Amino acid sequence: MSPAHKLYEGKAKILYTTEDTEILLTQFKDDATAFNAQKRGTIEGKGEINCSVSAALFEWLESKGIPTHYVDTPAANEMRVRSVKIIPIEVVVRNIAAGSLCRQTGLAEGKVLPSPLVEFYLKNDELGDPLLTRERLFLLEIVPPEQLEQIKAMALKINEYLKEFFLGCEIILVDFKLEFGIDSQKRLLLADEISPDTCRLWDKTETDPQARVMDKDRFRRDLGEIESAYQKVQQRILSQIAKWHN
Ligand code: TMP
Repeated sequence: MSPAHKLYEGKAKILYTTEDTEILLTQFKDDATAFNAQKRGTIEGKGEINCSVSAALFEWLESKGIPTHYVDTPAANEMRVRSVKIIPIEVVVRNIAAGSLCRQTGLAEGKVLPSPLVEFYLKNDELGDPLLTRERLFLLEIVPPEQLEQIKAMALKINEYLKEFFLGCEIILVDFKLEFGIDSQKRLLLADEISPDTCRLWDKTETDPQARVMDKDRFRRDLGEIESAYQKVQQRILSQIAKWHN
């Protein structure tokens, strides 16, 4: 048995090996960063919240037939996952205009898009995660065209399942970021996390444009009450999951 050692430390998670070479352990941190780590802080309890929210959403997606890297949660802020080679793109799905889409195009925040928009960003902090065109993606040989189509189709399906799930929680899924990986059997798996750090979530019961924000935009935009927003997301998701189990 090989002892666990730290494989990689990212901005929000630490990855460890386990005695099983096919399984890794992810530890979710309370550390928060934004704008490519130019802004740093701590969101108390975030590690446990993002771990439990991600676990719940991975289980929900698995039940719908989406293959994920999720295995189980041995501790409140720890998730065991299948070891995958991460494809270095961030796949963003948008239902409503917000964030960089508004900044870069002038679209008004809150505009409902005619159909979901899938975008690919290069996962590279040094380059600031630039938006890629399909041509640049193929030029960089990041993924073959068939695999890109498979990723896009999976992202759109995930969007439909998550939108439905969040609506049951009185939450509007504005947009979110996904990462994918390839396991030892060459299967494409949904990886990383799905949490208030990686989604824009608006409270359906609030109309005020600041009060409705339940995600990391509270940290990015200094809106305050970050912990309570994350806790509210967790409570609503876990009670929806409990209803689904019963
Ligand atoms: P954006 O509007 O800033 O491009 O963000 C789109 C979505 O992706 C939003 O839900 C937040 C998420 N996201 C991440 O998970 N990680 C990141 O590094 C960035 C920039 C965005």
